[in-house]
Amino acid sequence: MFHVKPADDSPGPAASALFGGRLALAVRYAELLRDTGVSHGLIGPREGERLWSRHLLNCAVLAELVEPGARVVDLGSGAGLPGIPLALARPDLEVMLLEPMARRVTWLRDTVAELGLSTSVARGRAEERKVRNEWQGADVVTARAVAPLARLAGWGLPLLRPGGRLLAMKGASAAEEVIRDEAMVRRFGGTRLRVVQCGTQHVDPPTMVVVVERSVNGPDGRRSWVVDGGRSAGQVSESDREHAGRSRRGRRQ
Ligand SMILES: C[S@@+](CC[C@H](N)C(=O)[O-])C[C@H]1O[C@@H](n2cnc3c(N)ncnc32)[C@H](O)[C@@H]1O
Repeated sequence: MFHVKPADDSPGPAASALFGGRLALAVRYAELLRDTGVSHGLIGPREGERLWSRHLLNCAVLAELVEPGARVVDLGSGAGLPGIPLALARPDLEVMLLEPMARRVTWLRDTVAELGLSTSVARGRAEERKVRNEWQGADVVTARAVAPLARLAGWGLPLLRPGGRLLAMKGASAAEEVIRDEAMVRRFGGTRLRVVQCGTQHVDPPTMVVVVERSVNGPDGRRSWVVDGGRSAGQVSESDREHAGRSRRGRRQ
């Protein structure tokens, strides 16, 4: 195991294992975060002291959950988290960073160019029609620290292809959020909700991720998928009801 202690914020063996031949680029990304990332207000000044443990490694382990060659949208990317560590760890992925704030978008574009990544950066909010039209059909949507699970599902699920997955990094609150928001997430067309730990070999504590699959049927259980601004919700399908019943029975056991 290659756990990295927060007190020693150096890349360490976990970074070599996760970034492989792109470790030097990950080191450069950490330098940029520590330098202009802090001075431009993309991350807090204290974060500069724990970049590897709290940010780069913690995000890169998400790669475990992403299939080869996937098209990934990082919703609310901020300083490129988790999208940039994921793109660095997995050159096979097509990653798009989505962020509404102009200042952050400029920093992201400069950073992606400096690192020589093919990652694209788009300015916009996930619920905007033009964003949906352009970016729908993703295999995976990632998000960290963007919104409560229900709202995130309303924003993120319409960007996915049927069967695609939302990976919401949630920390210790993951299971609670699933219990609290499950019904709403299902109304938005989310199914097969589960909490997955990843990076157990590399980070301590492991990264907690809520995985939600976009139902093959629409939010109302019919074949078509029409969601208005991430807010409309239809009936829950029969198969979802069955699944919800199984989940509740499972929790009682
Ligand atoms: C707390 S920051 C987290 C940034 C980054 N994901 C991280 O973990 O460091 C939340 C980010 O989500 C973005 N955001 C908020 N609402 C959004 C929306 N509707 N669509 C896309 N991004 C959004 C904000 O501009 C901000 O950069």
